[in-house]
Amino acid sequence: MEVVIVPDAKAGGELIAEAMAALVRRKPDALLGVATGSTPLPVYEALAAKVRGGEVDASRARICQLDEYVGLPAGHPESYRAVVLREVVEPLGLSEASFMGPDGSAEDIVAACEAYDRALAEAGGVDLQLLGIGTDGHIGFNEPCSSLASRTRIKTLTEQTRVDNARFFDDDMEQVPHHVITQGIGTILDARHLVLLATGEGKAEAVAQTVEGPLSALVPASALQLHGHATVVVDEAAASKLK
Ligand code: F6R
Repeated sequence: MEVVIVPDAKAGGELIAEAMAALVRRKPDALLGVATGSTPLPVYEALAAKVRGGEVDASRARICQLDEYVGLPAGHPESYRAVVLREVVEPLGLSEASFMGPDGSAEDIVAACEAYDRALAEAGGVDLQLLGIGTDGHIGFNEPCSSLASRTRIKTLTEQTRVDNARFFDDDMEQVPHHVITQGIGTILDARHLVLLATGEGKAEAVAQTVEGPLSALVPASALQLHGHATVVVDEAAASKLK
């Protein structure tokens, strides 16, 4: 695992956007896996600026989602489909057709999860998967004790993650879904390159456990230790508990 310490979130965003742009220059129809939440926003802003500035032609790039809430009505502004369309797909000038994600409003959620894993494989697999990390070490919504071999499936959010995400739902816990579909840890490990971005002191303990702790289902992000090409990009605050 490679650890890159950058001065701040903006520098992390720029570094990862350049890695994505370089990938797309080499492989114009690359499948880029994106995360939601606050951390990756500087990446998407920097990548969109490169597209606007003509540094990279991303018109054939494909985007796929890491996870999705279950039970939000289609088109809900905080569904991850809507978020990724707004924050990634549209700013990159891509169409909805270049974007895939799990169907969180499907009647048969188990079938929707299996269909998503199949669709990712049929698309040739994810070339670069961007990840954030939860304060409890989750990646995607694989909370502590998730199987390190898990595939895409429905999961129950921990109370801590629901509290962390309430800010996207007017701080109203009633509105925060209890369930999500998430790529499993095994599914995430199938991507050719994993890039985890963590910023801020609140992530320092989870980062230290991920990078220097033992491989453990108690810290799902420690599964990155199993991957042959994993890059952890951290700002100085998030790196503050590394030895
Ligand atoms: C979201 C996701 C989550 C977030 C994590 C950190 O798609 O996969 O694992 O990356 O909860 O969220 P932020 O970046 O908001 O701190």
